[in-house]
Amino acid sequence: MSDIKKIKKEYLDKLEQKLNLESINQIKSELFGKNGLISNQFKKLGTVPAEQKKQFASDLNFIKEELQQEINKKIQDIEIKEINSKLKNEKIDITLPEREFKQGKIHPVSQVIDEISSIFSEIGFSVEEGPDVENEYNNFTALNTPANHPARDMHDTFYLDNNKDLLLRTHTSPVQIRTMMKGKPPFKIIAPGRTYRSDSDQTHAPMFHQVEGLYIDKSINMGHLKGCLSYFIKEFFEINKIKMRFRPSHFPFTEPSAEVDIGYEIKNGKIVIGEGDKWLEILGCGMVHPNVLRNVKIDPTKYQGYAFGIGIDRLGMLKYGINDLRAFFEADYRWLNHYGFDPLDVPTNYRGLSR
Ligand code: PHE
Repeated sequence: MSDIKKIKKEYLDKLEQKLNLESINQIKSELFGKNGLISNQFKKLGTVPAEQKKQFASDLNFIKEELQQEINKKIQDIEIKEINSKLKNEKIDITLPEREFKQGKIHPVSQVIDEISSIFSEIGFSVEEGPDVENEYNNFTALNTPANHPARDMHDTFYLDNNKDLLLRTHTSPVQIRTMMKGKPPFKIIAPGRTYRSDSDQTHAPMFHQVEGLYIDKSINMGHLKGCLSYFIKEFFEINKIKMRFRPSHFPFTEPSAEVDIGYEIKNGKIVIGEGDKWLEILGCGMVHPNVLRNVKIDPTKYQGYAFGIGIDRLGMLKYGINDLRAFFEADYRWLNHYGFDPLDVPTNYRGLSR
């Protein structure tokens, strides 16, 4: 028998046996690899005498073809077997009951903060943050609040030491100071966050939320403040018309100062914002006092602007018809489930704030 016929017989016999993918690949390289038996036969072709060459080449090609086919068939068989056994073993039992799936909800306060940030960021305000534990200087002194001001009273403010140096901030206004100290005008920021006062009833909690606004530039006036606030309230309550009134008031850090009320009425037991003849106070505001600007090394003859502080919880109560503030902070899962928001529905002005 010629060499190539021997090779053929030997390997066809081998391929008859039960083989795995690895041993088939081994056979493949033994035959057709760089120094494979068949490859070497091809190399011999040049030395075969001319009269035998044609026959030899034809036989060789034929055997090569036959062996290759046999190998491919074997590989295919194995692959099919593998797929079948996978299909058999990985059967999905669709009769199993679904696992319980719990999705959390976004707290109304977080939702309202997101809505507020979205509205103000569209008109050029950036968001700043300050710490809940503030020093007396940022919370009062820098804000032009005199030593005898009632807000400084122990009854009103949670002090953290006997010297009254550290306290839980009573408003978000100290973020005005922090922001202006670390940068240069113009400033156009909002600062939402937690605030603390010694107060507790149906509409007051010792911890509550405010959002501060501050816009300082060369010619910002009260008209800008009014425009900005009426825009904000319309966007927030998703209404086209708003009744709003500015009531003269007093804050040590603004001059002039005002409190803003919005008009509302009760229709079928529900509160309707922007109509009617009842008034509800929602925020304090004014033009930043020159002393405050001086305290943060800004020249009040060159720069001026407005500030406002809005009660976030109250806005949320009004918008979403929640009537007891205390429930906001009781962490009752049933309440959250009822009043909470879908975590994937991030508020945006163009898609709707509160779908
Ligand atoms: N900080 C004030 C308060 O808590 C609100 C306010 C902020 C008023 C900014 C004027 C300007 O009542």
